[in-house]
Parts: sequence; C-alpha cells; structure tokens
Amino acid sequence: MHTSLVLAGFSLANLCLAEPGFLSLKTYRNTEAHAQALRKRSSFPVTLGNYPYAGGGIYFVNATVGSPAQEVQLQIDTGSSDVWMFGVHSCDSSTSPCLGGAFDISASQTATILDEGGFQIQYVTAGSGVTGDYIGDSFTIGGTTIKNLTMGVSTKAVSVDTGIMGIGFDAEEAIVGQEVQAGNSNPQPYPNFIDELKLQGLIGTKSYSLYLDDLETSTGSIIFGGYDKAKFQGDLGILTIQPDSQSGTYSSFGVILNSMGVTDSTGSTVISSSSMPNVVILDSGTAYTVLPPDIFNELVAYFGALKDKDYGLIIQCDLNGMAGTLDYQFAGPTGPIVSVPFSELAIPIVDPETGESLTDNQNNPVCHLGLDQTTSADEPLLWGDTFLRSAYVVYDLENLQIGIAQTIFNVTSSDVQLITAGSGQSLPGNIASVMTTIVQTKTEGLNGGPTKTVISSAPTDIQSTFGGGKGASALSGYKTTYTNRATNIPSASSTTTAKKSGAAPLNTLASGFWKGMLIQGLVVAAASFIGAKLIL
Ligand SMILES: *[C@@H]1O[C@H](CO)[C@@H](O)[C@H](O)[C@H]1NC(C)=O
Ligand SMILES: *[C@@H]1O[C@H](CO)[C@@H](O)[C@H](O)[C@H]1NC(C)=O
Ligand SMILES: *[C@@H]1O[C@H](CO)[C@@H](O)[C@H](O)[C@H]1NC(C)=O
Repeated sequence: MHTSLVLAGFSLANLCLAEPGFLSLKTYRNTEAHAQALRKRSSFPVTLGNYPYAGGGIYFVNATVGSPAQEVQLQIDTGSSDVWMFGVHSCDSSTSPCLGGAFDISASQTATILDEGGFQIQYVTAGSGVTGDYIGDSFTIGGTTIKNLTMGVSTKAVSVDTGIMGIGFDAEEAIVGQEVQAGNSNPQPYPNFIDELKLQGLIGTKSYSLYLDDLETSTGSIIFGGYDKAKFQGDLGILTIQPDSQSGTYSSFGVILNSMGVTDSTGSTVISSSSMPNVVILDSGTAYTVLPPDIFNELVAYFGALKDKDYGLIIQCDLNGMAGTLDYQFAGPTGPIVSVPFSELAIPIVDPETGESLTDNQNNPVCHLGLDQTTSADEPLLWGDTFLRSAYVVYDLENLQIGIAQTIFNVTSSDVQLITAGSGQSLPGNIASVMTTIVQTKTEGLNGGPTKTVISSAPTDIQSTFGGGKGASALSGYKTTYTNRATNIPSASSTTTAKKSGAAPLNTLASGFWKGMLIQGLVVAAASFIGAKLIL
C-alpha cells in the first residue's frame, strides 16, 4: 500500500483494484528448531499466509502483541512503514471487513501509551483512514520477539481491510508525514520494525527477502536478514533504490524500469512508450501492477480484455489460449529481466460462499486482468503482487539496493544465505547499469541492432469481443531479443481456440454479493471463505 498525505480522488474501481487480497503464509519450513538455528545466524524466516481468492492475494503474518500475548494478523506491506493493528471497537464494520483481530491495550501488562491520538495514516484508497495512539509493547513474529516496538493502535479505522505491518523505510512513517505537513522541515522518525530488528541484534543488516510464490498457492515467506538461493533463477541483479524526487529522502522502494515487453509465439516485442524508462515502486501491499496509461491501454487491447460495468476489466481465465510472458527489464538495456507468465495475470473471481467462479454464459471462467493504470501524472507507478509473485526480491535498506531475480514457483527446498554488512553492497551480484539516453536507441545498440519494426499503430479501443485470442491487437513496438534473460519462457505455443463471436454475457454471482465485495476491496468474501475473525 502506498501512504498518502491527502485523500487521492480514486474511483471505486481503483479502490478495488488497488486493495484486493488477503494473506496467509506458509512455504518455508518453519519448525521452531529450524527457526532457532537460523536466528543464531541472525536471520529468520516467517511464513506468510495468503487469501488467494481475494483479488489475487493479501499476504499476511501471524503476529502476537503484548503480554499475555494477543494474536493479530497483519498484512505485510513494503509500501508503508508503521506497524498498526485495530484497537477493540475501533473498526467500522459498515465500511471495512476488519480482518485479522484486534488488540486490547488494557489487557496487556507491558503496553505503554507513547503518544495518545498521535497516530494517523491514510492510504491511497479513497476515504481510507486510521487514527489512534502510538504505543510501545512487545511484538512477536516467526518466534522472534521485539521488545517495546513503537506501533499504532487504532481508535478509529475506515476503509482499511486489515491491520498493516509496514516494513518500509522509517522516513515513510505516518508521523514523519504529519510533521512535514505541520511545517517541520527536519522530522525525526522513530525506530520502526526493521530498525528495531537491527538495534536489538535480531538481524545483522536491515534487509529482508520476499517470496510470494504462485497465484495458485496459499502461502509465501519472508526472511529477515537473509535470502533463499533455492527460490530464484540465476544471480540477483542489483538495482539502486531511487530517492524521492521531491524530498530527496529514501522513503519507498523505487527502482528504475527500463522497458516493458511481451514475449509470445511471435517472439519478443518491446512496447513503445513515452513513459519508459521510469521509476516504479515495489509495493507488496498493492494487489495489481499500476501501469502508465499508454502501456496499460496497449495491453488491454492485446489481451482482448473487456470492461464490464459490474466487474471491471475482465478476461477469460485461460486467456483464450494465449501463452507467453509480460517482460519487465530494470535499470538499463542490459539490466535484469523478470518475466510474468500470462497465467499470473488472470485473477480468479470466485464466489466465496460457493467457491464457484464467475462464468460467462458459455461456462468459461471469467477473471480480472491483474493490471491497472494511473489516473494522473503525479500518481506513483506501483508494482504490486501481480508483478511481485514472479520476482524474488531482496530489500537492502542499509545499502539502498534491491536484489531482483526471476522467482521459481512452488519450491519447497531452501538454501538460506545470511546477509552480512558489506561496505556499499551486501548482496551478491552485479549492479545493473542505468543508461541515461532514450531506451529505444540503446536497446537497438545493445542487441546488435535489431530491425526496428513498428508492428502497427496502437489500438485504442477495448476489444468488443470477449477474449479475442492471441494478440487480439498487435502491440506497437519493436522486435527484440533479450540477451540476458534468466528465465525459460513458458511454452508460447499457438494454441488454437475457436474465437467467440461477440461478448458472452456474464452469469451473475449469488445475490449481488460479489458486487458489494468489490467495493470493499474483495476481502469481505475472504473473511467468510477462510473463517477469519470479524471484529465489531
Ligand atoms: C496463523 O494462525 C492460524 C491459527 O490462529 C493458523 O491456522 C494459520 O495456519 C497461521 N498462518 C500462518 C501463515 O502462520
Ligand atoms: C519504549 O520506547 C519508547 C520510545 O522509544 C521510550 O520512550 C520508552 O521509554 C520505552 N519503554 C521502555 C519500557 O523501555
Ligand atoms: C504451484 O502449486 C499450485 C498448487 O499449490 C498449482 O496450482 C500451481 O499450478 C503450481 N504452479 C506451478 C508453476 O507449477
């Protein structure tokens, strides 16, 4: 999730696209003995849960707070920097599902109130907001306890689905934003979760790695102070984290994206775009990938996605036989490439009460297209879960670097490496060089001068037929060959599927329930589906 100082004028459609998912973790073997062995080496793993049907996933940790310990589930969020949970009776169930439990400060013997009424946070979701107190208390995840962590406890929470465990830079703390707004030019952050891990000697460097795994799996994992070599292909590419363009501070995980392309049975095409290269923010708390409008519109046309007034941007779940990958090249034309299989972009729409998929009237399952677009030029490009599931990402907050590689799905083995302090660089791998001249020229040069073929002009209309099939519209761009691609392209075979004539009407899911859920960001459904606690 991305914090916002002002309420952005997001539409409801954006609300549900930006906010879906819930998490539940599990992937990494997490026996206590194993966890302890790892702790001695100053890194520790935490299993993430996922509610996979909630818009593709909300990734969460099981945490306990206070003494005696109270259980809460918190969404893990690289896009914000405070840990906060619902206080009892603080959540408005008419606007939020209030998932994950609440904390009763009066029942904890170790809690102290640090700043009554001092906690206020807003996310980019329209109308969302949390106010409450800053408290200090013990906080435990993955068998590791932080003493006296500064956390927010809400006294009022509106339009947020869960408590959040923000693991970003302390410069992004809500209190820092408030101070800046109040005219303080040099606000001091408090030591947040990731700072305290280091201060209390629980990890060696302020770093962690996130493995979200496949869309279909219900778990993921995060390793604080380490990374798992078994979970990615090749070497890590090292990207330099970009400072905030206005303040010059390091407040979010912005990295340079050089270009986007598509690989299908016709080869690889780099999409022409005036928006690239650009800074994109790696944000695990955003469900979709929020693209610049020019690229978004090309891809919508290419996939033949259809805009439905109730369900938003939809496609057939099997993409009508299309196979291939959406390719993201970071840094410069020799930078690391992460390829997202098309199948990872089809987010199931499932009735949580019956487990049934939304279908069209020919009984084809219908999915959301897991992409979104910015609606104004100053909105950040948020690279959320529909990108991050295909990437293994190591966040090094000390050296201000990101290690990135193509993830390997469904790996059960592990090979955990400790991240130890290194001057200038702690992660193994080569720093990807950034080119400053325009991307297209450079790409041509580096790929040995491929012919620049503009395939066709960009189509502007969304396909009126549902699931137009492979490359429903040609991409505007030029053919390229990736020289340094670390990944195998899932068989980009040309499956021939009978083309449907005309859009097939949708079968409406049970009693309009699904529509209500979309407004809630898809999570209400997950609550009843998974049996999570609803707090009133
Ligand atoms: C979280 O805790 C619940 C029990 O409260 C358990 O069923 C679930 O598996 C746990 N999930 C993770 C990811 O640890
Ligand atoms: C907890 O941390 C806060 C803020 O850093 C500090 O003011 C307070 O004295 C600490 N409390 C204890 C019991 O250490
Ligand atoms: C990963 O495992 C899930 C089942 O947990 C399966 O549905 C999915 O297809 C697998 N993905 C890959 C890439 O093998």
